[in-house]
Amino acid sequence: MKTSGGSDAMKRRAGESAAEAVDDGDVVGLGTGSTAAHAIRAIGARVDAGLDVRGVATSFASRELAVAEGIPLLDLDEVTGPGAAGIDVAVDGADQVAGGDLIKGGGGAHAREKLVDSVAERFVVVADPSKEAAVLDRPVPMEVLPSARGVVADAVRAAGGEATLRRAERKDGPVVTDNGNLLLDCEFGEIPEPGALATTLAGTPGVLEHGLFVGLADEVHVGTAEGVRIRE
Ligand code: 5RP
Repeated sequence: MKTSGGSDAMKRRAGESAAEAVDDGDVVGLGTGSTAAHAIRAIGARVDAGLDVRGVATSFASRELAVAEGIPLLDLDEVTGPGAAGIDVAVDGADQVAGGDLIKGGGGAHAREKLVDSVAERFVVVADPSKEAAVLDRPVPMEVLPSARGVVADAVRAAGGEATLRRAERKDGPVVTDNGNLLLDCEFGEIPEPGALATTLAGTPGVLEHGLFVGLADEVHVGTAEGVRIRE
């Protein structure tokens, strides 16, 4: 599983803190990335101790980890739709956090993450202090249909950004998402109005999903050297 910035001990504290937000009987969205992985392990430990939950994975990687941890799983379409149970709480990481707005997609899983995180009754973000910012300014990952790569790059440029195809680190080729699509990392500099940019990006043909999560976070658990800071 991809690991980025921040100390692992801080990420673990954040993950363990968020795992405490899960109650018996909950349907839990299981995020992707190294910080969310700590939460999945901590939820797994609680399942071992008798907690009764069902998880909904946001990626192949989070599914594999949840299976290894003994967390029973459901598909998203089993808990959504008319009369379905829904998702009580989702726990997920972020590449950058500014207030309740996030940039996600460092692991290329943001399309399923947004589906799960946005329908959860309570969305708990787990992060370390390196993710916190006053204004979002990290590149925005965009999952695009393979044939739409050029079309979307042109649209990003028209919106004031620069798109770079994400390449696999040790392979001579692009990163391919769990959905079979490509990723463009789009540099816009500071993003003072993420809502406006999100609307523009979402309206671009060929974009499956962008990594701006605007106003979705209910709580942010930030693991620090001393403990955990919880922002609501
Ligand atoms: C995956 C994500 C991750 O949550 C994000 O990249 C943070 O990862 P990490 O906890 O490893 O720093 O959005 O698509």
